Amino acid sequence: MAFNLKGRSLLTLKDYIPQEITYILDIAKQVKAERKAGVVHQRFLGKTIALIFEKRSTRTRCAFETAFGEEGGHPVFLSTDDIQLGAKESIEDTARVLGRMFDAIEFRGFKQETVEILAKYAGVPVYNGLTDEYHPTQVLADLMTIEEEFGNLKGRKLVFVGDGRNNMANTLAVGCAKMGMHYVINSPKELWPSQEFIDEIRQMAAENGGTFELTSVPGEGLEGADAIYTDVWASMGEEAKATEREALLRPFQVNEEMMKKTGREDTIFLHCLPAVKGQEVTFDVIEGKQSRVWDQAENRKHTIKAVMIATLL
Ligand code: CP
Ligand code: NVA
Repeated sequence: MAFNLKGRSLLTLKDYIPQEITYILDIAKQVKAERKAGVVHQRFLGKTIALIFEKRSTRTRCAFETAFGEEGGHPVFLSTDDIQLGAKESIEDTARVLGRMFDAIEFRGFKQETVEILAKYAGVPVYNGLTDEYHPTQVLADLMTIEEEFGNLKGRKLVFVGDGRNNMANTLAVGCAKMGMHYVINSPKELWPSQEFIDEIRQMAAENGGTFELTSVPGEGLEGADAIYTDVWASMGEEAKATEREALLRPFQVNEEMMKKTGREDTIFLHCLPAVKGQEVTFDVIEGKQSRVWDQAENRKHTIKAVMIATLL
C-alpha cells in the first residue's frame, strides 16, 4: 500500500506507523532489485542534499552519497570542521539557510536535539544519520535484512547483546516494537535503558503484537532467537568509558558458545558495523556462515534511497 510521506523528516522511527515502515521497506526491495538488474533512474535529478557529519562515518555517508548521486542528485558533504553549525552560527540559523539551498538535509552527530531543531527550522526533510540516542536509517536496513532472510518480521525474535542503552539498542527497541517483533536486551543492569523508555516500548510493542524483555545474565533469553545483534562496547563520543565497558561487557561477547544458546542453526548474526573483532564479537562469528553483516551494510544504501524517494518525490 502506498503512503504519502512527501515532506516528512526521519528523526526517530517512533514518528512512523508500522504500515509506513513497511511501505519504505517495500520501496527498498524495489530499488535493490532495480540496481541488481542494472536499471538506472534519475529520480533526484536537479535535487541537492546537505550531509552534515559531526562524527565519522563510512556506511551512512557512502549510502547517502551514492544513493542520491546515482539517481542524478547532488550530495554535498559538510563536516562540522568546515561549516559554522553550533560554533559561530546557531543550529536554527544554519537550518534556515540550508533549507533555502537544499532539498533535504542529513545530520549525524551527538545530540538528538540538534537533528530535531534542524527539522523544525529547515522547512525541508531532515534525516537522522545517527545521534547518541537513535540510528533510524540503520534499523530500516536491519529490518530489511531480517525480512530477506525469513520472509517476514512479525513474531520474529531479535536479541541485542551488549550495551543495552546505546543508540542501536534504543532504535532496535522501537523498530521491533513497531513491527510486532519480540525484542530482548541481554545486558548488565548498569547498561539498561531507563524505566520510562522500557515502559514506553512495552506499550508500543503490545499495540503491535510484540514484546520487550530485558535479561542481565550473559546469554540468558537467547533461546529460539531469529537474530542475535551486537554493537561496539563504547560508542562514538564515549571513548573515555572503554575500560569500564570492557569490564562490564566482556561476559556478553557474542562468540560461538553464545550463538549456540539460541538452539537454532539458522539464527543470523547482525552488527551495524564498524565492529571491534575480539571484543563484542569473535572473528569466527562475524566471519561465520550465520553472519549477515555485509548484506546489512549493503541494505543501508537501498533503505536510505527508499526513505529519500518516499519523502522527496
Ligand atoms: N553503521 C553505520 O552507521 O556505519 P558508519 O558509522 O560507517 O556510518
Ligand atoms: N553505537 C555505535 C553505532 C555506530 C554505527 C556508535 O554510536 O558509535
